[in-house]
Amino acid sequence: AQATHEITVDADPSVTGPVISKNIYGQFAEHLGYGIYEGLWVGKDSTIPNTEGFRSDVVGALKELHVPVIRWPGGCFADEYHWRDGIGPQKDRPVKVNTNWGGVEEDNQVGTHEIFTLTEMLGADMYLNINLGSGTVKEMADWVEYITADNNSTLAQERRKNGRDKPWSLPFIGIGNEAWGCGGHMSPEYYVDLYRQFGTFVKTSQKPYPTLVASGGTDGKSEWTDILSKKLGERTDAISFHYYTLPTGDWNDKGEATGFDSDMWFKTMDRTYKMKGYLEENLAFLEKNDPDNKIAFYVDEWGTWYNALEGTNPGFLIQQNSLRDAVITAVNLNLFHDHADRVKMTNIAQMVNVLQAMILTDEDKMLLTPTYHVFRMYRVFQDAVSVPAEVSEGEYRQGDVSLPATTVSVAKGEDGGVYVAMVNMDPEEASSVTLNIDGVKGGDLELLTANTMDAHNTFSKPELVKPVRVSFSGTTVKLPPKAVAVAKLKF
Ligand code: AHR
Repeated sequence: AQATHEITVDADPSVTGPVISKNIYGQFAEHLGYGIYEGLWVGKDSTIPNTEGFRSDVVGALKELHVPVIRWPGGCFADEYHWRDGIGPQKDRPVKVNTNWGGVEEDNQVGTHEIFTLTEMLGADMYLNINLGSGTVKEMADWVEYITADNNSTLAQERRKNGRDKPWSLPFIGIGNEAWGCGGHMSPEYYVDLYRQFGTFVKTSQKPYPTLVASGGTDGKSEWTDILSKKLGERTDAISFHYYTLPTGDWNDKGEATGFDSDMWFKTMDRTYKMKGYLEENLAFLEKNDPDNKIAFYVDEWGTWYNALEGTNPGFLIQQNSLRDAVITAVNLNLFHDHADRVKMTNIAQMVNVLQAMILTDEDKMLLTPTYHVFRMYRVFQDAVSVPAEVSEGEYRQGDVSLPATTVSVAKGEDGGVYVAMVNMDPEEASSVTLNIDGVKGGDLELLTANTMDAHNTFSKPELVKPVRVSFSGTTVKLPPKAVAVAKLKF
């Protein structure tokens, strides 16, 4: 008989841990490739059905995810974005070169008014990443006033003239992006001074005051968290971090999105699971420098990054999304849940058509990726209360490297239900998950798996990979190899 990992989960739902912020389910939407244009925005005159210029099919699908927050307009793009280019009559807006992403024309058809229309349609919060790298303090201060002023200031009146009477809500402001790289190649010490300067001039009467996010490190640059948390001073609400999963770990040849073998699957799982170490390392710095837990940790870019799909503009970061991405999503979400006391936001890169996307589009067609399905299945964890669990995770090993076979997260949802998320990283061996939770009689399960490791949806077969609903009785869940499941328990 086929070997099985024996997994046990010991938990008591009357004992609770921190709330899993809904913002862990945040998205990132950059002006990059077909992420904004074509993927979301087609314009009001398009033959593709749209609402206020945004594709109705994509908006409808995103609504199902209950997207809590969207980070915009970048990424690297943010540090070259000048907000005045994106207001006023669309036909008069300047055309710029998107120097970071393919050198293509950026015609600024989506600007401040349009993006807030989208976030309001989705019921999502805005996480505005301001331009620290090539912008000025005044430019940033004016943008904040334009968005949030409720009085008759000239900027508020200009906003009204452009079609928006009431101010928008601006809960999150990111000060720069990857300051160690595309955001200006700065030292952390230099960034600290700039952050303090820019942060000083974020002035608004909006209540509550926007959360200010300092742009932090990445893999191999955790010292940014240490230095920033020591030196930024009073007005620091959160420090961000970026980590991408590259199967090979090599930026020159990252690995393919599909057509990989089980060795590459293992390497990819190993690389994605490094998120655990990065979280522990960074949170240890925060524990040391901010023991009262005033500074949150935002992983505001994460996800898979593969070689670009053949035949596409390499600057557009277009890639397929397979069952492997679904498993990776669940592995990372479970890790974020484990650290919910500090990890208050994460933003997967990126929402549509870019990197590990929820949705891919091709002209008037759209498909939901395996990653989308996991975000939909895990929706119940948004603002759920975590339940600490003892989990024997099993072992998935290759040579000297050992990973847990199955990770598990338990929480009490806002509807009062007890939910268990499970992911089996092993592509060959199933897991038998025994739930040692008092009174459990079974449950309803959403299960996502497929026959092959790189199973993915295409425009001709858009529903090849999608979850199924099954129920189980008793206390044991059979989790197939390479699978993600979310159970609602019955008592
Ligand atoms: O998500 C793509 C890019 O990756 C972002 O623009 C940048 O911040 C990161 O390097």
